[in-house]
Amino acid sequence: MHNLLKGKKGIIFGALNEHSIAWKTAERAHEEGAVFVLTNAPAAIRMGNLEVLAKKTNAQIIPADATSVEDLEHLVEKSMEILGGKIDFVLHSIGMSVNVRKGKSYTDPSYDFTTKGWDVSALSFHKTMHVLYQKKAMNEWGSIVALTYMAAQRVFPDYNDMADNKAYLESIARSFGYFFGRDHKVRVNTISQSPTPTKAGTGVKGFDGFSAYAEKMSPLGNATALECADYTISMFSDLTKKVTLQNLFHDGGFSNMGVSDAVMEKFE
Ligand SMILES: NC(=O)c1ccc[n+]([C@@H]2O[C@H](COP(=O)([O-])OP(=O)(O)OC[C@H]3O[C@@H](n4cnc5c(N)ncnc54)[C@H](O)[C@@H]3O)[C@@H](O)[C@H]2O)c1
Repeated sequence: MHNLLKGKKGIIFGALNEHSIAWKTAERAHEEGAVFVLTNAPAAIRMGNLEVLAKKTNAQIIPADATSVEDLEHLVEKSMEILGGKIDFVLHSIGMSVNVRKGKSYTDPSYDFTTKGWDVSALSFHKTMHVLYQKKAMNEWGSIVALTYMAAQRVFPDYNDMADNKAYLESIARSFGYFFGRDHKVRVNTISQSPTPTKAGTGVKGFDGFSAYAEKMSPLGNATALECADYTISMFSDLTKKVTLQNLFHDGGFSNMGVSDAVMEKFE
């Protein structure tokens, strides 16, 4: 490996199991010389096998519900204590729609579910950055990344209210990124990833269909979780210091396609 993150300290949200994009990112960050804390919601820690990842990467686990500012304050303080200083990188890899889970359609949601899903999937990013900013917890030239999906820009009917949550998340990256850049020289970006077979991904109705479609539309094919981890590592490294306020497509070219030969063949 290349020691791209040697000496850097981080917080990684959202590793649930070995399929999670955050799991792969933690493995890659460890290989590149970073030290970090792993965090997830207490219930997810009980359900998943985060202990295995923690052991493998020499990381400590600090439970935090990302919708709770109190939990986030504890997480950030404790992380700086454990890691021995300010933070260089943060991965927000969190998403959940209660409407999707409960089978509610976009046109007939439960608004309590909508609010909960928005809090978990979008507002939690603002809360995380709010705590990091208020505590002056980020080192200069640090990097904050959240994961998103192209349904923020284009219609994917079964993505449901997650499309709106992702649009909000991407907007927070730009809005908070301005203040973080101006005041602390910290960059904030979102990475818009291909459909990826994880718990969150496969929970979306029709996942197999739109994943296969994206594969056929993209000149390079869908990006895997490991490839997303690699891209995220580059965004945490010093090689991307002036990239900020961006929504970065990591999707094999899908986002700029109109139609491909492989898709046309199906209709001819
Ligand atoms: N899988 C895909 O197809 C795909 C595509 C584009 C973007 N993304 C995004 O990537 C990110 C990671 O998802 P994934 O695909 O690795 O799935 P995943 O299910 O492995 O990860 C989602 C994580 O969110 C965590 N989470 C849920 N509620 C939380 C809370 N209240 N507090 C803290 N953590 C909470 C879960 O415990 C889980 O670890 C999400 O933002 C997702 O929307 C996924």
